[in-house]
Amino acid sequence: MSEALKRQAAEAAMGEIRDGQRIGLGTGSTAKHFVDLLGAKVSRGFECVCVPTSEVTAAQARGLGIPLTTLEEIDALDVTIDGADEVDDDFQLIKGAGGALLREKIVAAASARMVVIADISKRVKTLGAFPLPIEINLFGRAATARAIEGVMRDFGAEGGLSPRRKPDGDNFITDGGHLILDASFGRISDAQALSKALLDIPGVVQHGLFLNLCQEAYLAGPDGVVRLSTARS
Ligand code: A5P
Repeated sequence: MSEALKRQAAEAAMGEIRDGQRIGLGTGSTAKHFVDLLGAKVSRGFECVCVPTSEVTAAQARGLGIPLTTLEEIDALDVTIDGADEVDDDFQLIKGAGGALLREKIVAAASARMVVIADISKRVKTLGAFPLPIEINLFGRAATARAIEGVMRDFGAEGGLSPRRKPDGDNFITDGGHLILDASFGRISDAQALSKALLDIPGVVQHGLFLNLCQEAYLAGPDGVVRLSTARS
């Protein structure tokens, strides 16, 4: 999908932020547009403090002069703006194609609201066509992978489990020092049960199902940006 659509979704979400807010900054190509726009706003005098969800986003924000903080220095965030790989009609998400899912989920959970920005192709009826990223500890990774494959069988996965690799073929290592396995389910019919089953595996650090965390989405398509919200308005 085009950068122009991602930019339009990010621009629309600028209306969600207010002077003086504590803002979570997402990761990925769409969130990057939001951080660029926020940097321009900060340079014009907008005040905020932000928690980035990855080292990449932190570096971008620092370069733009956006004030950063941590969840040790503040106790909560007003809003987080982030991208997504899939969004269903109930605002349940798959995230993690950029490998930042652990920090993204910690930041989203610490936020009063999470707003997704994406192009319209990310909207799905059923989650699961996009491979679910699962972050695992390096220790015992083969045992963890076998346990995940067992869960995939139990949940009727249509595809397999692949280790995430960098373009040079080396394992992709997350900011937290973990591996990512991408699990091809095809369709996920009971995301809550799947979430629990995956988190019950000791070597699983976190997975990319973001359940009951997002309240709002700006989805950009050829006909403009659609705003979807859980709130009746
Ligand atoms: C990063 O880990 C991801 O969760 C991204 O937010 C997600 O993959 C969306 O990325 P794009 O905006 O690049 O599609």
